[in-house]
Amino acid sequence: MVSIDSMQLLRAAEEAATRAHAPYSKFKVGAAALAPDGTILAGCNVENVSYGLTNCAERTAIFTGIAGGYRSFQAMAIVCQAEAAVSPCGACRQVLAEFCGPDTPIYIAAAGRLGDYETFRLGDLLPKAFEL
Ligand code: THU
Repeated sequence: MVSIDSMQLLRAAEEAATRAHAPYSKFKVGAAALAPDGTILAGCNVENVSYGLTNCAERTAIFTGIAGGYRSFQAMAIVCQAEAAVSPCGACRQVLAEFCGPDTPIYIAAAGRLGDYETFRLGDLLPKAFEL
């Protein structure tokens, strides 16, 4: 397991937000997931004219990692282009719980203010996650 700086992950998420496709909400979000070998998988939100098909930045990052052959992640950073940071939606929390343990740190920040980031534990964001 490789450990990397939370700021490095936040910077990758901030950069990914610049690539968001968000013409409807104008709310750009980037996410970066850390794989066990130190690889960073970045993602952005991808909206669709049929609004319900929108994919959040967090799921884009996780799915990119899965498609690349990874099956677990050690941390995630989420950065939005807004005044204040956002925490992941319920759907993304459940997807994160599929591939990350409850102790996984989730870093959130607003773009341009990465130094003010906050850290949450996935298990606190999604207590009693659904499992079979
Ligand atoms: N969004 C994310 O990508 N991640 C979040 O954590 C919150 C919401 C996106 C979905 C949609 O494209 C836009 O932000 C507004 O909801």
